[in-house]
Amino acid sequence: MSIKKPLVVVTRTLPDVVETRMRELFDTRLNDSDRPMSQAELVEAVKTADVLVPTVTDKIDAAVLSQAGPNLRLIANFGNGIDNIDVNTANNRGITVTNTPGVLTEDTADMTMALILAVPRRLAEGIKALEKGEWQGWSPTWMLGRRLWGKRLGIVGMGRIGQAVARRAKAFGMSIHYHNRRRVPSKIEDALEATYWDSLDQMLARMDVISVHCPHTPATFHLLSARRLKLMKPEAYLVNTARGEVIDEAALTRMIEAGDLAGAGLDVFEREPAVNPKLLKSEKVVLLPHMGSATIEGRIDMGEKVIINIRTFMDGHRPPDRVLPSML
Ligand code: 8YV
Repeated sequence: MSIKKPLVVVTRTLPDVVETRMRELFDTRLNDSDRPMSQAELVEAVKTADVLVPTVTDKIDAAVLSQAGPNLRLIANFGNGIDNIDVNTANNRGITVTNTPGVLTEDTADMTMALILAVPRRLAEGIKALEKGEWQGWSPTWMLGRRLWGKRLGIVGMGRIGQAVARRAKAFGMSIHYHNRRRVPSKIEDALEATYWDSLDQMLARMDVISVHCPHTPATFHLLSARRLKLMKPEAYLVNTARGEVIDEAALTRMIEAGDLAGAGLDVFEREPAVNPKLLKSEKVVLLPHMGSATIEGRIDMGEKVIINIRTFMDGHRPPDRVLPSML
């Protein structure tokens, strides 16, 4: 007797090895074009699928979920952040949601550190000046940035990625400060020589660099509001590799333009793939197109996690990366 394989609909093209393994294990419907699905296409997908594998570019909202067929039992997100999914509505309909935590921590922390280095040391400006033929030769006073060593880094959200950034920044001679919903265990604080700030406002006012690592939830939407951004020192820098929605991007842009903030390094934006045109023109920012976890190793590991979650769930067990309402 042959056991019926689950129908797994994958919304985007995944690395070859991941798709090959999925084809072996499941009845898969893959997306060879890699074109993001429209809301109507997502509705079609949830009507028939047993399992949906979406990414950050798919909005799995209540309207899409209301059309889900009786077979849809699992949404196995290819990604750590789950703000693209209405998890409560899914859960209320008896649909389990999983994500891929852990495997993109180090890659995202590397990219964050790259931005923490790039912005104060004017990396992008230097490259552009060379490319434009503006370099007249070495000068004692040209292209001067700011020293990182000895400066204060304030981490907003001290989870896995925040801690991985702290380890790197400490090695660069920065002192580590953080704000988090909960204080991290003293063993971790001690190893990082990290200072906990109960008040985000007070931390913002005293840091040289702020780096955002909290998830985007209803509670963190515009956590860095216009009011809070104004608390930062004018010579400070802001880095975000988490989610654009955590920062009021319009307010940040105004501050950068007005010289009320020294610069920003952004990998994520409020309305991706749209980027504020004024930010794009600014010399004080380094902008990346959501590349934090973009390594081939990371993406394969994410795919493997998705597969493990699907298999465990289909075998009737609790999948390892189930998203719980308390995480939202
Ligand atoms: C992912 C991310 O590549 O996992 C996340 O939360 O932000 C990205 O690095 C993307 O979300 C894939 O869905």
